[in-house]
Amino acid sequence: MLASKSLKLGAQAVKCLSTVSHFSKSVAPATSAPRKPYVQMLQNHFLPRAELFSTTATSSADGENEEQKKISVTFVDKDGEETQIKVPIGMSMLEAAHENDIELEGACEGSLACSTCHVIVMDMEHYNKLEDPTDEENDMLDLAFGLTETSRLGCQVIAKPELDGLRLALPAATRNFAVDGYKPKPH
Ligand code: FES
Repeated sequence: MLASKSLKLGAQAVKCLSTVSHFSKSVAPATSAPRKPYVQMLQNHFLPRAELFSTTATSSADGENEEQKKISVTFVDKDGEETQIKVPIGMSMLEAAHENDIELEGACEGSLACSTCHVIVMDMEHYNKLEDPTDEENDMLDLAFGLTETSRLGCQVIAKPELDGLRLALPAATRNFAVDGYKPKPH
């Protein structure tokens, strides 16, 4: 009786051990092989995110890109005083002047209904790189005070890379003729 009970317990122990062994093979990861994939998985998962938080290299590159997207423009006022500013590509000279507290009127806010944003391009090389004025701009320019061969309306001169180094003279006076009763739309 005692012998058969011992045999039964022994058989149960063997069965139990073999089950544990089977489980460890099928479910639990073996200690040596999977380490590499786990490390790779962790690296793949965390490294890209770590790069997201790295600001040093990318922010200085962004700063350089931002600088490349701006051109240098000098406004010369009626007293000959020069103000050099950086103008983002795509921005009009009128907007740039206003952002930098340069006295360029712009009574109609760029609607081609006045000539108060009259500027004189100071060198022919840059003047020739501008888009040709539209008929509407020419009509307004005809009425501008102190018109010259290189006169343009500041709201129609848009910054582009070829205009880097542009110099614009501000006329001694403007003629605000067409804006009587004109109400510029709010921004
Ligand atoms: Fe009036 Fe330029 S602001 S035409």
